[in-house]
Amino acid sequence: MKDYHDFLAEVLINEETLQKRIGELGEQITRDYAGKEILLICILRGGVMFLTDLIRHIDVPVAIEFMAVSSYGVGGRESNGNVRITLDLNCSIQNKNVIIVEDIIDSGYTLKSVIELLATRDPESLCVCTLLDKVERREVDVPVKYTGFEIPNKFVFGYGLDIDDFYRNLPFIGVVDLEHYQPE
Ligand code: IMP
Ligand code: MG
Repeated sequence: MKDYHDFLAEVLINEETLQKRIGELGEQITRDYAGKEILLICILRGGVMFLTDLIRHIDVPVAIEFMAVSSYGVGGRESNGNVRITLDLNCSIQNKNVIIVEDIIDSGYTLKSVIELLATRDPESLCVCTLLDKVERREVDVPVKYTGFEIPNKFVFGYGLDIDDFYRNLPFIGVVDLEHYQPE
């Protein structure tokens, strides 16, 4: 496995900045849902780091669930609009206040499909909280209530986001130098 220093173009968001913003998002959610219970649905696997840090800053009763979605062709780095649910929820979301927790919105295809599916299950409310948003890449409209950071159109990794399944464990968001990254 390659050392990420070989293809790290720059640290886009460092650990301190990430954690500070996640704290703010948690506080905002706490205010917005005061007196209510919420269900956070984390989209695996990229949203995991964000979810676990975010819930520590939420001070209303919170439950968590997981879904997995596959939207990329094999080995690809682009969503193709062909979104498949590979792991569905184990619970009903009827009458619940649901927040979908996602790592990054790129074309928007992945979230659009997830929102459409969950909306058919009759939640009390449904919204999206994403850590990162590559706004200029959007191909389909998705409503986003909470955004951590808007970022430029660059391929990023770390803090939940992978390159070919690795490097999710890094505590910061880095930009990949694609000229120096060769898949094994
Ligand atoms: P979308 O369907 O194009 O919005 O793609 C969203 C999904 O693509 C995210 O959940 C990520 O898993 C993945 N993704 C998009 N951009 C990046 C990136 O820069 N680095 C790593 N994964 C990404
Ligand atoms: Mg993802």
